[in-house]
Amino acid sequence: MNRKVTKAIFPVAGMGTRFLPATKSVPKEILTLVDKPLIQYAIDEAREAGITEFIFVTSRGKGALEDYFDHSPQLESELRNRGKTDLLDIVKGTNMDSGAIAYIRQHKALGLGHAVLCAQRLIGDEPFAVILPDDVIAAEKPCLKQMVDAYQETGGSMVAAMEVPREKAHAYGILDVDQQFGNLMPVRGMIEKPAQGTEPSNLAVIHRYILTPEIFKHLSRQKFGAGGEIQLTDAIAKEIELGRAVNGLRFEGQRFDCGSKAGFLKATISFALARDDLRDELLGYLHEFVSIDKAAQ
Ligand code: G1P
Repeated sequence: MNRKVTKAIFPVAGMGTRFLPATKSVPKEILTLVDKPLIQYAIDEAREAGITEFIFVTSRGKGALEDYFDHSPQLESELRNRGKTDLLDIVKGTNMDSGAIAYIRQHKALGLGHAVLCAQRLIGDEPFAVILPDDVIAAEKPCLKQMVDAYQETGGSMVAAMEVPREKAHAYGILDVDQQFGNLMPVRGMIEKPAQGTEPSNLAVIHRYILTPEIFKHLSRQKFGAGGEIQLTDAIAKEIELGRAVNGLRFEGQRFDCGSKAGFLKATISFALARDDLRDELLGYLHEFVSIDKAAQ
């Protein structure tokens, strides 16, 4: 039986420059899809996968993230007094137990691999998950839960994978796998942002990982890679070189790249259309908008 995964690292130190000026004062992880911050989607996904310890790797200006997870007794009693039980339940659902969240600072922006390394002491000697909140995945069974279940069978390390168009492969970490793969596949190699035409496949790593503590050894020795950053992909590739098992799981669900404006807007529309209280009004507006746009062409 493989050891249970109960800890997750959330690298949230990035400045979110793509969303300036909003991110001058609001951490990008607090930006909301409909009415829920990106970070809450990530926390909910982790909880549903059995995570009980949440480690945030933060940086200057991320205080609002810490405040967000505080209990708010005044707000709760106000909602209770006004009989707003639905809203009270929503607010209570965001409460975290004391001690369940730890925050650690990444003092220099040296990349995702370095952010994960910052959490080494809080992880200790056990397998752990890594979730980046800007990849939001809509799925019946949450993506990390799909991975944790598969990991119970396979052990080793695991990355979430998704097919991307070949011409976009250079923007991702790309897997080298046997072409005869099913949904779960052993990974033979990994390359971060391959030059166009050199990509070993069109299977990209998406921001969900299950890693073993051995990764820290590689991360602490890791040279700067693509983009001049310490890349997590390179450290996982090192694991593979040493003969350790790394699997890719082609998850079921739809991934939204909420680190980009277009991805964020698509997610907003998609999540709003999935809501009974918003669907009809929004759909009516979209139809109207599209027909005006067509008529103008
Ligand atoms: C990061 C990772 C890359 C991964 C991608 C998925 O790249 O380094 O391996 O495929 O996210 O979104 P970034 O988008 O930060 O450049």
